[in-house]
Amino acid sequence: MGKYVIEGGRRLAGEVAIHGAKNSVLPILAATLLVGECTIHNCPNLSDVDAAFNILRHLGCTASRDGDTVSVSARTLADCTIPDELMRGMRSSVIFLGAILARCGKARISMPGGCELGRRPINLHILALEKMGVTIEEDHGYLNCTVEKGLRGAEIPLLLPSVGATENILLAACMAKGKTVVHNSAREPEIVDLVNFLQGAGANIHIDKNGTITVNGVAALHGTEHTVIPDRIAAATYLCCAAITGGEVLLRGAMPQHMTSVFPVLKEAGCTLRHSAGNIFLSAQRRPRPLSDVQTMPYPGFPTDALSPAMALASVARGTSYFRETIFENRYKMVAELSKMGAKVKIDGRMAVIEGVSRLHSAPLCCTDLRGGAALCCAALAAEGESYIADIHHIERGYQDFDKNLRSLGAIIDRC
Ligand code: EPZ
Repeated sequence: MGKYVIEGGRRLAGEVAIHGAKNSVLPILAATLLVGECTIHNCPNLSDVDAAFNILRHLGCTASRDGDTVSVSARTLADCTIPDELMRGMRSSVIFLGAILARCGKARISMPGGCELGRRPINLHILALEKMGVTIEEDHGYLNCTVEKGLRGAEIPLLLPSVGATENILLAACMAKGKTVVHNSAREPEIVDLVNFLQGAGANIHIDKNGTITVNGVAALHGTEHTVIPDRIAAATYLCCAAITGGEVLLRGAMPQHMTSVFPVLKEAGCTLRHSAGNIFLSAQRRPRPLSDVQTMPYPGFPTDALSPAMALASVARGTSYFRETIFENRYKMVAELSKMGAKVKIDGRMAVIEGVSRLHSAPLCCTDLRGGAALCCAALAAEGESYIADIHHIERGYQDFDKNLRSLGAIIDRC
């Protein structure tokens, strides 16, 4: 397992190009099962994307990459099963279920386990697909799914605005018989990007102003070409990395309009932010101000995936900061590691209170999860001394060229 070695104390300054969004390209790769041939631009080079390729190839697709452009052909499928080792290769592989059912009329996937962030249940996915005519039976850790008379449209009120459940419903509904209406759907930019991909392939989908999604099933979808939106969480992470060092950064190829809940938090920390189409510029004070109340919410609220880097930033603030995580039960898993660096964090259920210290110190650290790992690197950039960060495979799931980008900003970081 690789590790990073980071010598803290350098003020970051420079530019970073933001790669395509992991949480957009993964459901879009699942959607390629429905469209025959397609080309996807701005596809990030991430281990989660490689895991999705492995699933596509197992199902009988061809998937090739030329830089950040990938081509997928799903003309003939050889299988409708995702074996356990492939399901475990990517936490969110359950989003292939809706597409396999739409294409094959049956599916067998191993029960997606939880992850570092928590149980990650799929009850909302199952309830929705059953409403659309799917019979789902558990069999020794696998889900056997069959659709006797073909997928049918349904009225689906989601108990929670689940991103994954919304995606599975969209993929199952595109070619279902009749109309599907999803109430309380997730509204993340990644959902809109998936809808744009599907509409480009001929799907009949409408999102109304209160977020209700209506899908009128069509007979077939056709090939398409699509450019993935930039990764707003990677963008937020680099902004926190520059801010914690009292530095500055220009993000290129970002979408400021996807980050309207992140900017106020960084401004409260004392950062100056300017943005124009595709670029975001941040400059920070030497030491951040505390954050009065950061509460994670479904989009357009503050994203849960940006909480960890924001907590790292707050750990050196000139005062006490308050956080509330409302999405994942184990989001604070990285706090024990952050505390080894001298951070003063108190956790009470979903609340976290961080008393900022003037300087963190280096420590031997282990990544606990994707965003927590990135947060430890963020903290190490400002810590005194040399920090060792192990298990960086977590980070490489969702950040392309993470060490290279930080190095280009002036960080002293080596991968070994
Ligand atoms: C997606 O996960 C993202 N992953 C997550 O990003 C992100 O944090 C999350 O959405 C929330 O925005 C991908 O897109 C690949 P959910 P997902 O279904 O779809 C509960 C990252 O770091 N729930 O919106 O799994 C669930 O337990 C990752 O890039 C049910 O109870 O998230 C959670 O509390 C981490 N039953 C809440 O809903 C269900 O059937 C939100 O989950 C489904 C979800």
